[in-house]
Amino acid sequence: MEIKITRPQGTEDVTPKQIYKWHTVERIARETAESFGFHETRIPTFENTNLFLRSVGETTDVVQKEMYTVTAKETQFTLRPEGTAGTIRSMLQNGLLNDALPQKVFYILSCFRHERPQKGRLREFHQFGVEMAGSQGPASDAEIISLAKTILDRAGLQNIALNINSIGCPVCRAEYHKALKAYFEPKKEELCETCQTRLEKNPMRILDCKSPICAGIAKDAPVILDYLCDDCRTHFEKLQEYLKALHIDYSINPKIVRGLDYYTKTVFEFITTDIGAQGTVCGGGRYDGLIEQMGGKPTPAMGFAMGLERLIMTMEQQGCAFEEPKGCDLYIAPMDESAVPTTMQLGQQLRVSGYQVEYDVMQRGLKAQMKYANKIGAAFVMVLGENELQDKKAKLKNMETGEQIEIALDETFEDKFDDIAVQYMFHDIVEDFEKECQ
Ligand code: HAM
Repeated sequence: MEIKITRPQGTEDVTPKQIYKWHTVERIARETAESFGFHETRIPTFENTNLFLRSVGETTDVVQKEMYTVTAKETQFTLRPEGTAGTIRSMLQNGLLNDALPQKVFYILSCFRHERPQKGRLREFHQFGVEMAGSQGPASDAEIISLAKTILDRAGLQNIALNINSIGCPVCRAEYHKALKAYFEPKKEELCETCQTRLEKNPMRILDCKSPICAGIAKDAPVILDYLCDDCRTHFEKLQEYLKALHIDYSINPKIVRGLDYYTKTVFEFITTDIGAQGTVCGGGRYDGLIEQMGGKPTPAMGFAMGLERLIMTMEQQGCAFEEPKGCDLYIAPMDESAVPTTMQLGQQLRVSGYQVEYDVMQRGLKAQMKYANKIGAAFVMVLGENELQDKKAKLKNMETGEQIEIALDETFEDKFDDIAVQYMFHDIVEDFEKECQ
């Protein structure tokens, strides 16, 4: 079949056959964040473009090359390329920073970046992210990194390397910028056009340019760690002490500068080599200046986001377990039209009690219905015909063992089904237990 309109390049469908993987990682991430005292927040999919210009930064790749922006009634809006800017905007707009600090939130959202699609790099992707506002000390950096690590551990990931760095504060950054300018100035003509302007405005951005020529030139550039002021150095050392106390292995990678402008001091990434070139599963860091820059009181903050597509891809690659979706508990097969109302009533009764029940809505014959019940993997099937309705009892067939159990179609139906279903769910355990008792 030729489909006339296909999905846009760089986007993905998640079909019902795949969704359980998403449910698994979202549940793990949500539960872990909640166990650290974080609460879920939701923000709009698009924001005023200025929000991203001011926070993510005008000289970043994200702003210069990757934003999806539309002008509607003379106002520019942009599909969020990340979650931090909108989350901080929301905290400020809703007065959350006037409540008890630190404010700790998490989010699961889609992001949009017009990048060149490749494995692990999409134009619409999804992030699980957290932000903690109001905490200055390195203990909160350790807390954030530990939260990310706990999620990755609970997802079952192995061999995922934590890289940390400090990119200093405005004080040490000024000295560092001078050193970078001195390094790149003689090679200016070889840099891409964007990096030539970055050299004047924000030379650190050259360090994460995606052009291989710029990356080659930047290879031997000075590193920020050599320029840290005392405060930033102590902060970084203390963080390492805490990571050691938490038994979190890490490497210092002085080349990590991150692709967004708001970072200060600690930055970090969790990287895998299992999914190809786009192996950064999680990235984050401290951003002590952003809240003030966005009009709030000076408030230090820190967070991270993990790419859910990359996380799931790595889990698949490493053979991690996903929770299997719940299947159909009971399929009811009415033999003819006269059995349909009772079928509906019994089905509804069990659904309200939490069972997954299906019955025929296609007026199919018994054979076709049984085929369907098999296909969907129903645990039990119950056929309802004239005799069953007259006798007010039917047979529940256990589709795994073929065993048939009689069940009354009266007020005891639900309780009896409960008993049978529980027995079914625990039959392995019961069998083991009975064996042990013999
Ligand atoms: P980021 O490093 O730009 O940081 O993105 C975080 C994660 O999103 C990446 O590590 C990656 O897993 C995933 N990701 C990014 N771009 C793509 C893409 N094109 N396709 C698939 N996955 C992608 C941020 O977004 C910051 N807001 C993180 C943060 C929160 N920092 C502090 N708080």
